[in-house]
Amino acid sequence: MRVFVAGASGAIGSRLVPQLIDRGHAVIGTARSPVKAERLRALGAEAVALDVLDADAVRKAVVAAAPDAIVHQATALAGMRDFKHFDRSFAQTNRLRTEGTDALLAAAREAGVRRFVAQSFASSRYARVGGPVKTEDDPLDPTPAPAMRETDAAMRYLDQAVTDAGGIALRYGGFYGTTSDGMVEPVRKRQFPIVGSGGGVSSFIHLDDAAAATVLALEHDGAGIYNIVDDEPAPIREWLPVLATVLGAKPPRHFPRWLARLFAGEAIVVMATESRGASNAKAKRELGWTPRYASWREGFVDAYVSPHPDARTAIRT
Ligand SMILES: NC(=O)c1ccc[n+]([C@@H]2O[C@H](COP(=O)([O-])OP(=O)(O)OC[C@H]3O[C@@H](n4cnc5c(N)ncnc54)[C@H](OP(=O)(O)O)[C@@H]3O)[C@@H](O)[C@H]2O)c1
Repeated sequence: MRVFVAGASGAIGSRLVPQLIDRGHAVIGTARSPVKAERLRALGAEAVALDVLDADAVRKAVVAAAPDAIVHQATALAGMRDFKHFDRSFAQTNRLRTEGTDALLAAAREAGVRRFVAQSFASSRYARVGGPVKTEDDPLDPTPAPAMRETDAAMRYLDQAVTDAGGIALRYGGFYGTTSDGMVEPVRKRQFPIVGSGGGVSSFIHLDDAAAATVLALEHDGAGIYNIVDDEPAPIREWLPVLATVLGAKPPRHFPRWLARLFAGEAIVVMATESRGASNAKAKRELGWTPRYASWREGFVDAYVSPHPDARTAIRT
């Protein structure tokens, strides 16, 4: 297939492009800077400069590329730090998830593109009631924290628009897999505390596994939503001390809810204490996907190559 990858130069895009090429697909990837375009070409892809928010340019680029499939992996999350003003920090990503999705879907219709796969998110999306692990059929959180309502709405919009158009929305877990991952520095500096009981459940996915699932989704017939997460959703009180050990950092601090609310805002407190994890059973069953890193326990060690002698012991306990 000819696959058009919007956001080919990003954290997931740059893992996806080589996997697509390895599977025999031709890739046309977007990159807005010459340096990133050159990196894409070095991976064996064609590069096009494109702003996904410019609907007319998207239409022209997609028609010119004449792809069989489109993957939407464009986000604007690099360097994100301010989770207190959650929606403000996600504003550009929310536009990419709404306006960007619309532009790519319209271009897909015009160019007769049969397959469409887009990036969505699993962690912290599901209703904060009942068991700790949720499937795609479980209800989404009807009352997200006020600070993240726009972000929540943008993800719902993407899931709906993509599946209505016959495509696939992949609800990825929290990405990890490079030493520049967002949580590395705060954990090293002990700026990532366990809040309250630390009972919020996280679902992770290694970037290589996320890319592998994306390739399989592109090759899969039919619309749908899939959680792309590892086999071990875990409460923060469990995974955060392990990550600290793997990184050779001191153990995480403990903050009461009120203090965390003051520093990081309500959205983070809700995630840290009430969030539910996601099940990958549907993706395994229907896409034939198995994550290479079944658990963040092995994945963190491989990703962060800790010099700390206790790291491998820590993951077994
Ligand atoms: N599920 C998750 O946990 C999750 C999801 C996404 C990101 N993240 C994390 O967030 C951090 C930043 O992600 P990232 O490195 O992928 O960077 P990013 O800034 O989120 O950019 C991602 C991709 O989107 C593209 N893009 C952004 N705005 C665009 C626009 N208007 N038009 C076309 N393309 C556009 C970028 O392309 P250009 O080259 O054109 O700028 C880039 O290829 C990473 O640590 C990543 O792991 C986590």
